[in-house]
Amino acid sequence: MLFWKKKKEPQIALKNEVVVPQEFNTFGLQDLLHYIKREIGVDLLSKNSVIETKLRLFCERKEIYSFRKLFEALQHDKMLRQDLIDLVTVNETYFYREESQLDMAVNFALTIPNVRILCAPCASGEEVYSLSMMLQERRREPREFSITGIDINSEAIEKAQKGLFSERSLHKLDQRLKEKFFTHEERFYRVKREYFSSTSFTKVNIFEHEFLSLGKFDIIFSRNMLIYFDDEFRLKTIERFATLLKPDGKLFLGHADIIPDNPYFIKHTDHRLSYYVKKS
Ligand SMILES: C[S@@+](CC[C@H](N)C(=O)[O-])C[C@H]1O[C@@H](n2cnc3c(N)ncnc32)[C@H](O)[C@@H]1O
Repeated sequence: MLFWKKKKEPQIALKNEVVVPQEFNTFGLQDLLHYIKREIGVDLLSKNSVIETKLRLFCERKEIYSFRKLFEALQHDKMLRQDLIDLVTVNETYFYREESQLDMAVNFALTIPNVRILCAPCASGEEVYSLSMMLQERRREPREFSITGIDINSEAIEKAQKGLFSERSLHKLDQRLKEKFFTHEERFYRVKREYFSSTSFTKVNIFEHEFLSLGKFDIIFSRNMLIYFDDEFRLKTIERFATLLKPDGKLFLGHADIIPDNPYFIKHTDHRLSYYVKKS
């Protein structure tokens, strides 16, 4: 092994060299956006200019200098594909979001023995943990229910599995709930594992076959994902929900998730809160 310092090379030879930044070629953006929509449903075609900058920075970080090259690389590079999905999906969520709707679902869940609930998508898991907390607050033991959370964003799923959340994410919870279900660690709150043995999180794309092998559910939550899809993909999504929902089950969507007329579900509204049941 050599221990002396390597002598610095003289700089003179580089004096007249100019580092030419790689010119970025934006050709191929439309193909890329169509690819994203086809693969995960997220429709970015109308947000062209904002997304162009975001995707360009993504490419440059990866030392890819055209959208066409990125598109080609995506065909065989699974990690790159996942990084791109993590970049273009919006994972905003928090505990007890739209509490009155969660309450309505919990009231229904309490009528079903061994109730099975699916949150698709769950982002970083707050919705899944919230439902579990609410059921336990109503004296249901974790062994009496199961809640599955799925999302396509790998970072979000990792965060859900870790169960480590910021103060901001818990802003709707009172002190009693925080103390009961979390341990406070400096700037973070960690879920107490003993309360959450019946929750699970998996990275799944709702358009892939794996989604249909998750089993049958009494309740499906799908809040704030359909807003990123167009009508064609909204229809495809709810058709898949109809396959996974048991005959007497209920589907809960977010307030902004408007679905087109369809042969699968009828909407019911109760005290300004809505849910969907399957058409028979
Ligand atoms: C705004 S979050 C909604 C989280 C939670 N349901 C809520 O309302 O608080 C939307 C999530 O949809 C996920 N998503 C988008 N397309 C998806 C797909 N094809 N399969 C699974 N998850 C998807 C994103 O990764 C993102 O985490």
